Amino acid sequence: MDNILIDPNIKSENDYKRLVEIFGVKELNDNIINLLYDIVGDLHVLIRRRFFYAHRDFDILLNEYNNGKKFFLYTGRAPSKSKMHIGHLIPFIFTKWLQDKFDVNLYIQIPDEEKYWEKKADNYSEIKEYAIEDAKTIASVGFNPDKTFIFINSEYIDHLYKPAIYIAREINLNTAKNVFGFDDESTIGLPFYIALQIVPTFFENGVPLIPCGVDQDPYFRLQRDIAPKFGYNKASTILSKFVWGLQGPYTKMSASDPKSAIFIDDDYDTIKEKINKYAFSGGKPTLEEHRKYGGNPDIDVSYFWLSVLFEEDDKKLFEIREKYIQGELTTGELKSYTIEKIWSFIKEIQDRRKNININKYMYDGKLAKEMWDWEFEL
Ligand code: TRP
Repeated sequence: MDNILIDPNIKSENDYKRLVEIFGVKELNDNIINLLYDIVGDLHVLIRRRFFYAHRDFDILLNEYNNGKKFFLYTGRAPSKSKMHIGHLIPFIFTKWLQDKFDVNLYIQIPDEEKYWEKKADNYSEIKEYAIEDAKTIASVGFNPDKTFIFINSEYIDHLYKPAIYIAREINLNTAKNVFGFDDESTIGLPFYIALQIVPTFFENGVPLIPCGVDQDPYFRLQRDIAPKFGYNKASTILSKFVWGLQGPYTKMSASDPKSAIFIDDDYDTIKEKINKYAFSGGKPTLEEHRKYGGNPDIDVSYFWLSVLFEEDDKKLFEIREKYIQGELTTGELKSYTIEKIWSFIKEIQDRRKNININKYMYDGKLAKEMWDWEFEL
């Protein structure tokens, strides 16, 4: 598929810019980032480095927040036949930061039907197992259990289906096709799934703020068309770029290819081996040439990962960059540094996961029920 709308096959920073235009979203500019800083007194590395780079109405949300308007967080992850890698965690890491700063409720959807209906997995019981494993991994990011509500769609029918009845009626097949590009082979589950991903944006009366990959924006574009009809708020989104896989710039970190991805449950030796063996390097082939001509950080996967998330210190990152360009820092040294950084991050999540009580996070629907019983009727 070469339709960027449907399959944003990003090959350069320019493609991200094009996506902004095609989707009709806005870039996160300095004004908005300053506004955020003024409110919370801090900026997460994923925002500072512009990995989250675009948005819908985030400026409006912040201004209204200053005037006392409420918002809540919503994000999700569709389980499939493979486990989570570090790229999958990015929206959750940023979402946790937002929850810490604003102390708001967060809803996390685990749509166990999505990939099955997409035929990205053949075995539904396997997906169900991953759904609960993923929920544990996500909870281990460290969310506030009192304000975080995780739900697996197929186990949550009562609270999803009723609103979906109303939402599904407002989206016709032609619109769905234009936005998602279904073809004759698509299963009939997929157009209906759109309604299921929209439902949680109506779990509370405030504005839903959704940190997610830019590819998820189409769902929320449709949500914005229909929300006013129900007397609810249009969704605000904060959209991220995609991470690079180990193979190089703009390659995918693919859960089905262990050579491309670092999984959350990889141990130290596995991470070390993967990075040393597979992480594409911007260094020169021989030490001699490297010292003489220097390396290129902008195509280097280890440097990419440090710059996106794992080196929070701007000064330190700049130093690494300069030393690499000068040839003072070798590929081996850069990789060792990156391995330690990634490992200390992953270890923290693994340690938390060992003791996680997932029941503390699972959503019983109380909050939403209060809303719908009296408010959702058209
Ligand atoms: N469709 C998302 C995926 O493929 C999962 C998801 C469900 C989601 N609800 C969401 C993502 C809300 C972001 C925001 O993984």
